[in-house]
Amino acid sequence: MLPRVRPRRLRSNAAMRRAVAETHVNPSQLVLPIFVREGISEPAPIASMPGVVQHTLDSVRRAVTDAAESGVGGVMLFGVPEVRDAIGSGATDPHGILNQATRIVHHEVGDALVVQTDLCLDEFTDHGHCGVLDPDGRVDNDATLERYRDMALVQAGHGSQLLGLSGMMDGQVASVREALDDAGFLDTAILAYSAKYASAYYGPFREAVASTLQGDRRSYQLDPGNRREGVREAMIDIEEGADIVMVKPAGNYLDVLADVAAASDVPVWAYQVSGEYAMIEAAAANGWIDRQRAIHESVIGIRRAGADAVLTYWAVELADWITEGV
Ligand code: PBG
Repeated sequence: MLPRVRPRRLRSNAAMRRAVAETHVNPSQLVLPIFVREGISEPAPIASMPGVVQHTLDSVRRAVTDAAESGVGGVMLFGVPEVRDAIGSGATDPHGILNQATRIVHHEVGDALVVQTDLCLDEFTDHGHCGVLDPDGRVDNDATLERYRDMALVQAGHGSQLLGLSGMMDGQVASVREALDDAGFLDTAILAYSAKYASAYYGPFREAVASTLQGDRRSYQLDPGNRREGVREAMIDIEEGADIVMVKPAGNYLDVLADVAAASDVPVWAYQVSGEYAMIEAAAANGWIDRQRAIHESVIGIRRAGADAVLTYWAVELADWITEGV
């Protein structure tokens, strides 16, 4: 007997496939992470992230203008300071690299893009942890909140419109929200890195920010095996006032992403991290994988699982492909 049901009918040509596609990516749903490094005069390549550079305060202007032209939704700024100390003073210094970059980017593209900043201490501390340490060398949650509150005010004051709280301290969203509100920054929004897992896939990022971290972040980031806990973290952050919640990394955590998307009443974003980028670039460079298709598929997969937007180092390139229809 011939098959009565033929799902292949809807796959028979490109026009039909396009007409029934369930998942789309718009440039506006992509966010480009950008590194700005203090004390360099030329953009510096990051070996483990081919195609990604550390920008100077000058070259970042061009990068964000290009990003705006490509139609991406925003840029997420990271600072790489020249000098670090125990409390990450550079993070709250108005002349610190991230704050200077934020002001420049805000003036350059603040009307066209959502200017976002990483709100975390790890790039600024000499020990490389996301918070300050207590006398026993442990990350001190509540003392760190004080630093985050100060960072939030400086970043908002320099023109960041969306603060990326990536430190995984308990109570960070409520604490930062209160500081912003008390200071009158009522329109500065919070992107909570809610379900952020202690991942090996942040490896290349450590090179990108010249991290000095010894050890790991397992006392504050989530255990990769914990799915329910990822949802719980997102719910806590929403309760505390997060405007957007995030799952990170993306590709290995699509189940968590789907769960959070189902439970959330605020937008859910995902971060396709440095290691996810590096793996595809490395395989493509060896000719083992079709680079463009793999990039498309990786981001479609993240969208399909439930991400409203994706932070990805391919944001601009992918946006251009989408616009050109390739
Ligand atoms: C913390 C932060 C990290 C990343 C983004 N924000 C590093 C970490 O938590 O260890 C990783 C991003 C990436 O790997 O692309 N400031």
